[in-house]
Amino acid sequence: MNEIMLDRNENQYGPAPECYEALRKANLEQLSLYSREFLRGRKSELSYTLAQRMGIPEERLLLSYGSEGMLKQVVHCYLHKNEVILLPRQSWWYYKKVASEVFGKEVEYSLIEQNGRFEYDAKQICDLYDKHYPQLVLIASPNNPTGSSISQKDLAAVINHCASAIIVLDEAYYGFTSESNDHLRELLDTHQRLVIMRTFSKYYALAGLRIGYTCVGEGLDQLVAFSARYLGFNQLSEKIALAALNAPEYYRTIAEKMRIDKEMFHNGFALLPGFTVFPSEANFILVRYPVPLKKTLEEGLKQRGIVVKFLNDPGLEDCMRITIGTREQDTSVMNAFNEIVGQGAMGSQAHELVNNR
Ligand SMILES: Cc1ncc(COP(=O)(O)O)c(C=O)c1O
Repeated sequence: MNEIMLDRNENQYGPAPECYEALRKANLEQLSLYSREFLRGRKSELSYTLAQRMGIPEERLLLSYGSEGMLKQVVHCYLHKNEVILLPRQSWWYYKKVASEVFGKEVEYSLIEQNGRFEYDAKQICDLYDKHYPQLVLIASPNNPTGSSISQKDLAAVINHCASAIIVLDEAYYGFTSESNDHLRELLDTHQRLVIMRTFSKYYALAGLRIGYTCVGEGLDQLVAFSARYLGFNQLSEKIALAALNAPEYYRTIAEKMRIDKEMFHNGFALLPGFTVFPSEANFILVRYPVPLKKTLEEGLKQRGIVVKFLNDPGLEDCMRITIGTREQDTSVMNAFNEIVGQGAMGSQAHELVNNR
């Protein structure tokens, strides 16, 4: 039985054909050499290309070992023992792990469940800022596991208010609903201590490559120096990432399929009593389910080789997170829930509901 692993927000469609081609064509003999991009006045071809796309100088575009690597660098660079990091309560567990490595003090703000989604609350963040004067304020947009984004208005309000903090904006799920960079340049111009982290792991389906990239404001020279790679970056990874950037149509097509599958799940779960799907701007959905069914669901999914993430986070104990897979996987998942719960439309019918709208 082929397992369907939908528990880690990996992009199940795989990288673009252009990435395979780049790997086939790569001159492996070159790997015995360090990069000489500096002779062309660049740090690396990848950071140069990304910086150009975003309209920022290459010095302010940093590459890292996934966005995980940049998160660690930012926290280890700027958060010291007993200093406060303000972060979302319902979020990626790893933020807290990294903060604990430097004995930072976590203060949590809540995403508020209203209007059928988990919304950022700028006022709450600003009030907590006034109370604790955090060194770092972390915002994930879209957020994992709620799938919700902060509005441009709220983000601007937080950035304007938290003037002395370093604002870390984790955009690991950037691309699935918007590919615009307009907000980015404006934000970087407004707040000099802003860090915007992105990755090739999710949208570009290159999680195993471990490449993240980050734009930083002008006031973060310490981070720029800390993250500098004197002898260059991983040249093979760079080539594959560049190939991904050159395959926009492939990735847009996938994102569109995922958008339709998210709708399919909304329609499908709506027919199951006690299930709710929260709107998501990422490649996963948060699903609330009737807790008495937990064991039945866990066992039923296991029998069918389907792995999703049942959450234990405070306030989300009645929720699971399902990564959006391929069309075939998503249909199988919806069918599985219908069989286990014993009612509702099968996945293919739920897809029809989307198509007939
Ligand atoms: C919100 C968030 N940020 C960052 C990451 C890590 O991404 P990367 O593979 O770039 O390290 C994840 C991984 O799931 C995530 O959910």
